[in-house]
Amino acid sequence: MVGGFAATQLLVTAARLSIADHVAAGHTEVEALAAQTGAAPGPLGRFLRMLVVLGVLRQSGAGRFELTPMGQFLRADHPDTQHERLIFIGAVNYPTAQASVHAVKTGEKAFDQVFGMPLFDYLDGEPQLRDIFAGLMSDSVEGRAEGICRVHDFADASLIVDVGGGDGSLLRAILRTAPQARGVVFDRQSLASGQDGAPADAAAREPEFVGGDMFAAIAPAGADIYILSNIIHDWNDEESIAILRNCRAAMKKDSRLLIIEEILPTRIEQAPATIANDYSMLLLTGGRQRTRQEFAQLLKAAGLRLSTVRPIELNARGARRRENWALVECRPGR
Ligand SMILES: C[S@@+](CC[C@H](N)C(=O)[O-])C[C@H]1O[C@@H](n2cnc3c(N)ncnc32)[C@H](O)[C@@H]1O
Repeated sequence: MVGGFAATQLLVTAARLSIADHVAAGHTEVEALAAQTGAAPGPLGRFLRMLVVLGVLRQSGAGRFELTPMGQFLRADHPDTQHERLIFIGAVNYPTAQASVHAVKTGEKAFDQVFGMPLFDYLDGEPQLRDIFAGLMSDSVEGRAEGICRVHDFADASLIVDVGGGDGSLLRAILRTAPQARGVVFDRQSLASGQDGAPADAAAREPEFVGGDMFAAIAPAGADIYILSNIIHDWNDEESIAILRNCRAAMKKDSRLLIIEEILPTRIEQAPATIANDYSMLLLTGGRQRTRQEFAQLLKAAGLRLSTVRPIELNARGARRRENWALVECRPGR
């Protein structure tokens, strides 16, 4: 654990140089890898030896390497690739963690301390990282989308709005079970504009993208269902109540709001990944994971009523992460 920083940086460097992809493409010798990556052969050889120590490469001859089964996960084309996650961690989580003491002492966001602005504002100006982030969110959505459609029936909705819906992965999955519905993803202008090229083909059940700020107003108004998936945990109580009030303002009398979040367990060992996400929020955005009672209080403050909380079953890929997802259904009124 003490030397964990070195392992993370070795993996981030391997990802930034696409070492695993070059080795998989047959560039297995130091000289060939140096030519592919633009690195100096001497230092690169010493770096590659460390990847052997770490267990992601194996030495197959003098100055020659191959990927171990674990090293395969660094390939960008592996179905469970860690490539983009490592690029993001290297650029965002790693530098942010340097302000951990500040965050723990004050409750202020480590990210803002290091980068001088909030995470989502920073991502607006870094399109590569913003798209990686949207892709990582979409991967995680894949683990729970089927489970969400099993616990909630979308068959009677005409209009569904996914607030902060990212690249539309969740709404696409929902629209497959609700062919009658129109689906709108409401997200930041920078993200929504990037989706303009997506085909607005009704047969492919593509959602529409609307750009805006959920702290100003949520559009369109009057939908049957509003979704906040993995959103409230990004924000402190005051900000969360502001988002929920804006949802409430957009809702009709009989609209439903579905909050999809990881619920904080009573015992830490029940969902260690949820505990880890809670700590990430402390550092990155100033948000938090919450208990069921904490959700009920936020909802009350925003003029909404919690009607049910149902656990979401994750698929085999999602289940490996040991998170504690639930769908909280809410209606207007206290
Ligand atoms: C943690 S991601 C969640 C993505 C997706 N809903 C999911 O289930 O994984 C947070 C999303 O909120 C969006 N977002 C952040 N600030 C926003 C704002 N002020 N208005 C609208 N969307 C915002 C981000 O662009 C991002 O897509």
